[in-house]
Amino acid sequence: MIKIDTDRLPRHIAIIMDGNGRWAEKHTMGRIRGHRKGAQAVRTVVRACREIGIRYLTLFAFSSENWERPAKEVQALMFLLEEYLDKELAELQKQEIRLTTIGDIERLTPVVREKLFQVKESTATNDKMVLNLALSYGAQDEMIMAIKKIIEDCGSGKMEIKAINKETFSQYLYTSGMPDPDLMIRTSGECRISNFLLWQLAYTELYFTKVLWPDFTKDDLYKAIASYQKRERRFGLTSEQLKEVNTEMCKGKVNA
Ligand code: IPE
Ligand code: IPE
Ligand code: MG
Repeated sequence: MIKIDTDRLPRHIAIIMDGNGRWAEKHTMGRIRGHRKGAQAVRTVVRACREIGIRYLTLFAFSSENWERPAKEVQALMFLLEEYLDKELAELQKQEIRLTTIGDIERLTPVVREKLFQVKESTATNDKMVLNLALSYGAQDEMIMAIKKIIEDCGSGKMEIKAINKETFSQYLYTSGMPDPDLMIRTSGECRISNFLLWQLAYTELYFTKVLWPDFTKDDLYKAIASYQKRERRFGLTSEQLKEVNTEMCKGKVNA
């Protein structure tokens, strides 16, 4: 088992769960069987994150571009989502996990929307972990939506142009109120972002693995976290400056 330091965990992990289709192909099965197996990996990873104490887990489950896939595949993905929500509600409650979503969920079918609404409502006060599903999500659309809303609010006097800054802009995004991801994992060997959290990933540590999503295990999660823990996040500063900041923070803690 890979060793991780539970005192220095990423607060927020975001995952691009990719490779279901290739997994199915490798096992000479249809793509939908790959998605079904992928749903199993979701269960494993949610459980593992909750167990070690990750506070936020964002999973890219369906992108705004995925609507263009064959209708049969889209339908199957929607059905799997419904099934996941039905089956997992009890587990989310037991584990005190809150479910949230980001994305244009108005595009989902009324049945899925209703189920999502119910699960979100029933888990709203759970506070051990946030499981945030990116559904019908695209970061470029998200930013355009935010800009439109800002222009509207400026027009109606709710917002002033001079008040627009990184913090206020963030409040107009789907992820408002959530910390930015510390670690972003993408499976299946693709080294791209595919329109996921373009704003929020500005200083996120990126981890790419060749493992296909349906094969992703707790061990793979630990490997990603261990890699994250070996890195130095500099946020544009120098290593020396960071050491000073850390020393100051430690002093602050001692004095507090
Ligand atoms: C990720 O697996 C799941 C979704 C995008 C919904 P893919 O379906 O993209 O799998 P590959 O990339 O074709 O292998
Ligand atoms: C990104 O994967 C979206 C999800 C994992 C839901 P895709 O398979 O859609 O991305 P591309 O097409 O390889 O960029
Ligand atoms: Mg893919």
